[in-house]
Amino acid sequence: MTEPMTEPMTGSRAAGLPMTVPAADLPARVTIYEVGPRDGLQNEPELVPVEVKEELIRRLLSAGLPVVEATSFVHPAWVPQLADAEELMTRLGETGRGLPVLVPNERGLDRALELGCEHVAIFGSATETFARKNLNRSLDEQFAMFQPVVRRARDAGLDVRAYVSMCFGDPWEGAVPVEQVVSVGRRLLDLGASRLSLGDTIGVGTAGHVTALLAAYAEAGTPLDVLALHFHDTYGQALANVCAGLRAGVTTYDASAGGLGGCPFAKSATGNLATEDLVWLLTGLGIEHGVDLDALVQTSVWLAGHLGRPSPSAVVRALSG
Ligand code: HMG
Ligand code: MG
Repeated sequence: MTEPMTEPMTGSRAAGLPMTVPAADLPARVTIYEVGPRDGLQNEPELVPVEVKEELIRRLLSAGLPVVEATSFVHPAWVPQLADAEELMTRLGETGRGLPVLVPNERGLDRALELGCEHVAIFGSATETFARKNLNRSLDEQFAMFQPVVRRARDAGLDVRAYVSMCFGDPWEGAVPVEQVVSVGRRLLDLGASRLSLGDTIGVGTAGHVTALLAAYAEAGTPLDVLALHFHDTYGQALANVCAGLRAGVTTYDASAGGLGGCPFAKSATGNLATEDLVWLLTGLGIEHGVDLDALVQTSVWLAGHLGRPSPSAVVRALSG
């Protein structure tokens, strides 16, 4: 960060934390939307036992993460890793009802409603090819699939988030015009979604692109507090992209504990922005987030033991070495 300091450094660096040096004109507080149990695990080739998923979610919540996306009610043959969604949500009981879950269609919504879920997320694509690969629908058909989901969810009093994937590039189509991303996002909001998460599914975006996309949404009349940013870290750009988002005033960031993640239907999608790396940045900038970094790192180290490989997060590696 090169912004001038607005106040002196807040004293010496505590062990395991960066020195806090606030930068000018950034949000005072950020919401971290944890997607590890869903986006982080959905691509894992070996089935993770449901009791490990339950413990992961409980540990993330007790580390202070305000939102933990739990699982997906998608077709079990499409994402076998999350085929235990019912069992997981049943085990979580009352806690589970407050956690968001992905639902692509009415069948998914029915499954979520049966378990009393109060927050659902639909997931659209900014490109034709990924809509077909991820949802078995054309770009236009995806809206017809989502329309009754959002209507019924809203009628039942549920909160609906909408994702837009491939906002910064698509492995099959290449560059994705900013206007196309805005048009898809606006259509999802017009269906009745209350929040929009802009996904860099394959991690190719850079900071100027983030600034331009956010400016285009503002130009189209989208309030900033409706938007979240969802970065995958394939090219190591995720934190730089968060900085661009912070400068524009975005206050919700998706991240995955330990940097796990990827999408089984997107070539070259690798891990999400690691929650620990995000927490380190926000702490250094003096931006409130409410997360206990030590508890989070311990959780990712514990999970890495179950997955049989170390976390790709730089912060997890630095603090657990
Ligand atoms: P389809 O084959 O077109 O489904 O798949 P269909 O509507 O033709 O139905 C076929 C059969 O599947 C029927 O059963 C349905 O009942 C059943 P039958 O009558 O033949 O016995 N079915 C279901 N069963 C259980 N749960 C359901 C469900 N839906 C239908 N929900 C479908 C369409 C959308 C279901 C499929 O394409 C799918 O499940 N896709 C999910 C893909 C996915 O989960 N991708 C990863 C998440 S997106 C992501 O990671 C990106 C994100 O992180 C943001 C970013 O990084 O950009 C969010
Ligand atoms: Mg993702």
